[in-house]
Amino acid sequence: MPDSVREITLAVNGSECVVEVEARLLLADLLRDKLALTGTHIGCEQGVCGACTVLVDGVATRSCLMFAVQAAGARVTTVEALGAESDLGPLQRAFSRHDALQCGFCTAGMLIAAFALLEENPSPSEDDVRQASAGNLCRCTGYEPIVDALLAAAREQHR
Ligand code: FES
Ligand code: FES
Repeated sequence: MPDSVREITLAVNGSECVVEVEARLLLADLLRDKLALTGTHIGCEQGVCGACTVLVDGVATRSCLMFAVQAAGARVTTVEALGAESDLGPLQRAFSRHDALQCGFCTAGMLIAAFALLEENPSPSEDDVRQASAGNLCRCTGYEPIVDALLAAAREQHR
């Protein structure tokens, strides 16, 4: 194995993965290109838009700002863990019901940020929701439907 390549082990969506990665490979590229988890989107590639957000050990993280080798030993959760096309999870259903997506480019990052918020705070206020989503940019929706969807998902999990 060349010096610039490392073998790392990480848990992605609950499955252990052992992969060889270039030292400079970004976590976002590992997920998309080597693990075929293309739900995670790459927009700005400089930590601004939030499209690439995943959970690393439960913390919402820009995967375009993290090298894959830095995720060695970590638990990574991507949007694919939140539900499947044929079996949407509660947050995805709420986004769909409230028209909280249009082009969908921001949606994976929004859903992961929303998931992280609800894990930490199951009963967020509107202000909590706005603050938690502030790092995720959306060009299409005007944000209101996203806030409505997140608040609805929070309410529904208490039923
Ligand atoms: S692609 Fe990572 S923050 Fe924009
Ligand atoms: S739905 Fe298009 S950027 Fe958010």
